[in-house]
Amino acid sequence: MRLLSRKASCNTHGQDSSYFLGWQEYEKNPYDEVKNPKGIIQMGLAENQLSFHLLESWLAKNPDAAGFKRDGKSIFRELALFQDYHGLPAFKQALVDFMSEIRGNKVTFDPNHIVLTAGATSANETLMFCLAEPGEAFLLPTPYYPGFDRDLKWRTGVEIVPIHCTSSNGFQITEAALNQAFEEAENRNLRVKGVLVTNPSNPLGTTMTSNEHNLLVSFIEAKKIHLISDEIYSGTVFTSPGFVSVMEILKNRNYDKFSEVWKRVHVVYSLSKDLGLPGFRVGAIYSNDEMVVAAATKMSSFGLVSSQTQYLLSAMLSDRNFTKKYISENQKRLKKRHGMLVSGLQKAGVSCLKSNAGLFCWVDMRHLLRSNTFEAEMELWKKIVYDVKLNISPGSSCHCTEPGWFRVCFANMSEETLELAMQRLKSFVTEYNRINNSNKESSAKNSRRRSLTKWVFRLSFDGADRQPEER
Ligand SMILES: Cc1ncc(COP(=O)(O)O)c(C=O)c1O
Repeated sequence: MRLLSRKASCNTHGQDSSYFLGWQEYEKNPYDEVKNPKGIIQMGLAENQLSFHLLESWLAKNPDAAGFKRDGKSIFRELALFQDYHGLPAFKQALVDFMSEIRGNKVTFDPNHIVLTAGATSANETLMFCLAEPGEAFLLPTPYYPGFDRDLKWRTGVEIVPIHCTSSNGFQITEAALNQAFEEAENRNLRVKGVLVTNPSNPLGTTMTSNEHNLLVSFIEAKKIHLISDEIYSGTVFTSPGFVSVMEILKNRNYDKFSEVWKRVHVVYSLSKDLGLPGFRVGAIYSNDEMVVAAATKMSSFGLVSSQTQYLLSAMLSDRNFTKKYISENQKRLKKRHGMLVSGLQKAGVSCLKSNAGLFCWVDMRHLLRSNTFEAEMELWKKIVYDVKLNISPGSSCHCTEPGWFRVCFANMSEETLELAMQRLKSFVTEYNRINNSNKESSAKNSRRRSLTKWVFRLSFDGADRQPEER
């Protein structure tokens, strides 16, 4: 008799992906400047540690917020007892205002349409529970965030069907790829309930073009399905083109606010990346469908944001001087860091997809593969983790269809650590090229020797008057 549920014993969680395996290897031998200078540098974690000083200095100036006081008086008991799954109104207002500010106040969000969740992880799963039955499908452009296999599929039983994007156009979504994914789902007898995209993209670090947006909106309108836009990285856009939310696209297309399309587009957000607070577990679903908002609110009981966290962050995010300064300073820091990574890679002879957002680059190491296969990608990845001691994420863990791409994070370490990581990579590539060139030279020599031997062989056997056939 089975003592555990199928869910508990199945392996669709995705924990065995190289994305998570790399983290485990890092945990066994983590780099530390003093204690373990030869350890593995973690470049597989999309964390933003670049602007903590701004958060810390705000906390120092506003001791009431973290001390659970209002006007100097303790509100500890009030917060300890608060358990309403609708969330603190002041926090919801502050969060929607922050979301608008990130979008240059071109769109506004109604606090009655927002549902608080324990991070974007919970927001995405909750939306799956609201929008699809087990065995129904969502289409996702590749490469995609490896955590989606867990978040969207594991407990819900929903299937992911990939929209295959390629390097030929910078991994942008095309109409042909969308239609092909839809057909693939139909061939697998899966009913498609929607498309889920990340904008800016994890792992590409690029923002969605208006062409892609319009394509997607027309597609979901025609097919009568949903569109989820995970905009968790919206505040990380550090250079042009700027960030455009799907909400702005809907507004610009002049859809009636009560139209079906408005109701079928949902935004996911979180403070894990823009504010660098993944440990606080603050996420949100924004939807124009009242039924979705009501159902998701009830479901949010399973992953609430604690009232202390809501209280603290409502004070922080309603300080508009602070949020303005934070957003621009954070973007400046990300831009600088991104520049450091790109130039470090260049010095090692490695290029990456041109990007304008996120906490990572999508790095092209196809020239370092032994062959154009995913086995070769794994081989290279193992060398980089175990020999070079850098944990980066292979493209295959993001379901990329082309071997040789890797996601490399740049915002979860100090500048010195990033410099060291680039030195390690450069030494590796130099050594790789040296061995490769000497292998090529010796195989060229061997083949020249072979030709000569054949030539001599033929001369001596076929007679001196015969011309050699191979050289
Ligand atoms: C695209 C995307 N969605 C969701 C998540 C989960 O974020 P959270 O920490 O808010 O659960 C991540 C985290 O890396 C992500 O990259």
